[in-house]
Amino acid sequence: MRYENEKAYRLISPRILILVTTVDILDGIDAMPTTFVAPVSFKPPLVMVSIPPKSNTYDNILDKKEFVINVLPSLYVTKVLKCGKHFPKGFNKLQQAGLNWYSSEKVKVPRVKEAKIWLECRFVGGLQIDHLRSTDHVPMLGEVITAEVSDDVVTEGRVDMKKLSPAMHITSESFAVGFEIVKKKVA
Ligand SMILES: Cc1cc2nc3c(=O)[nH]c(=O)nc-3n(C[C@H](O)[C@H](O)[C@H](O)COP(=O)(O)O)c2cc1C
Repeated sequence: MRYENEKAYRLISPRILILVTTVDILDGIDAMPTTFVAPVSFKPPLVMVSIPPKSNTYDNILDKKEFVINVLPSLYVTKVLKCGKHFPKGFNKLQQAGLNWYSSEKVKVPRVKEAKIWLECRFVGGLQIDHLRSTDHVPMLGEVITAEVSDDVVTEGRVDMKKLSPAMHITSESFAVGFEIVKKKVA
């Protein structure tokens, strides 16, 4: 079947659900659930989160030049979804969702306590696409300055997906949880 171009992103799924934490100008803690996240470069270690310019998260990243990518086990998906709304600046989105936070190592933006993976990022620039002046999302690049994974989701030095059990977003209210893992040699 043909698919609407504007909805083609749904054909590239499931994608890992993350919570991007930022701090606003009134010291409120913002947390944005999204799946628009990707690694961009090994050296320097860059990751991209694509953020709408009309969101508080966008303003906060431009203002404070920092953000944290948090990955929570699927157990917390309902709480993560409670962060998917817009609140005024100065608000604590994690608190209203029943999530907890604690200080990051190298950035002022806090980490989510219930997460098992944290990437502390310093904003290095947004991608302006010249011939598309008003895209509804802007790819924002962050350099990872601290990355940590909780030991209880690690097996033999690698993230153990069965233990982490991330929520993988398919579309709308559908998530893939607890998938089968296979090993294949790269030729
Ligand atoms: C599962 C899920 C995925 C989402 N993905 C996106 C997304 O890709 N882009 C987006 O703009 N908003 C997305 N949202 C909505 C944002 O999380 C919401 O608009 C955001 O939290 C606004 O917060 P802010 O204005 O405080 O930054 C998603 C929400 C959920 C629950």
